Amino acid sequence: MLHFPQNFLWGAATSSYQVEGGNSNSDWWHWEKKNGLVNSGPACRQYELFAQDFELARSQNHNAHRLSLEWARLEPQEGEFSEQELKHYIEVIDALVSRGMEPVVTLHHFTNPLWLSDSGGWENPAAVKYFLRYCKFVVSALAGRVRFWITINEPLVYIYHSYILGVWPPQKKSVLSAMRAEGHLVAAHIKAYRLIHKLYNDLGLDKPNVSIAKNVQAFVACRDNFLDRLGTILRDYWYNIRIIDKLTRHNAIDFIGLNYYSRQLVEVKNWGIANLIMDTCSLNHHPLKKNSLGWDIYPEGLYNLLICFKKYNLPVIITENGICTDDDGLRWEYIYGHLKQLHQAIGNGVKVAGYLYWSLLDNFEWDKGFTPRFGLNEVNYDTYARTPRDSARKYAEVCKTGAI
Ligand code: FCB
Repeated sequence: MLHFPQNFLWGAATSSYQVEGGNSNSDWWHWEKKNGLVNSGPACRQYELFAQDFELARSQNHNAHRLSLEWARLEPQEGEFSEQELKHYIEVIDALVSRGMEPVVTLHHFTNPLWLSDSGGWENPAAVKYFLRYCKFVVSALAGRVRFWITINEPLVYIYHSYILGVWPPQKKSVLSAMRAEGHLVAAHIKAYRLIHKLYNDLGLDKPNVSIAKNVQAFVACRDNFLDRLGTILRDYWYNIRIIDKLTRHNAIDFIGLNYYSRQLVEVKNWGIANLIMDTCSLNHHPLKKNSLGWDIYPEGLYNLLICFKKYNLPVIITENGICTDDDGLRWEYIYGHLKQLHQAIGNGVKVAGYLYWSLLDNFEWDKGFTPRFGLNEVNYDTYARTPRDSARKYAEVCKTGAI
């Protein structure tokens, strides 16, 4: 048996747009309709069914749960905040706390209020001040109930899809726009970090724990040559390390939130900055088992990344790790494999404080619609019934015993 530390946070993660349904004031809602994509529609209907879902998580021995607040619900028009939606989220958080689950709350998870997108989105410098105003509204109300905050989910994933690849709203393909938007997201985090700490201090509360959820990937050289090795080093710095490094330099991070899924096989085809940063092996050299979206399953990558983040001497929470698959046996193999690596990293001195599986439920997987099944619990999209998978039961045992 491998034992995890006492007071370890065990649970699962979701995001509001992916599970709530009916987020008609969010930019993504309008974008999916305009582009004829699968509509998120009622999603998992969690806006109504949250208490039932949290009861399910509790029955599976989770002691923590990550969820996000939908900014567009809380501020449907610029500067007009909804007390009614705030009340809803207070009920949501209370439903967790009363079941003995630690809420880990994300303030921004990919979607924006439509009014913000219409005024230039994250390219507009004013987005920073809008974000702070929204933070002040919700954090002041929830401070007494929440100890863990994630300001922004995966800033680079958002920037890459929305401003480089142009496959998510606002569908730009411009390095300049990407740099501008990234600068504003990072500035928004740093300022929100200070604001959240100040609000807790003014209210006489214990210091909160504030971070971002940083997506990290294992970059592995496809060939043993200089170009692939250089590409790997550059990507590791540019993609995995750079932002966390900056936040630590600004003293604007209390723990490191990591979202880890997969490996990228680096095969640089030519000299050139774009090649060095983006070329991957397309011929499936070094094949591994994959999830249903074709992402490589590579648990040792998690270990290597944790060792690399050890130098910051901060607690780490795995804020997402999961697999979409129709083979639930593979899901359990994935979870078990990653927990083993996590345990090894803890043994080697990394202060890991929690693990949140993505996701509690099958849900709306952005531009991929409802086909990828990431859930510990299956969702039937006709009846909205939730059915625990075998992996949910096995994970429940881990949450109960704190051991694998
Ligand atoms: C992450 C996102 C999350 C979900 C998983 C599969 O990048 O944060 O919303 O889509 O991937």
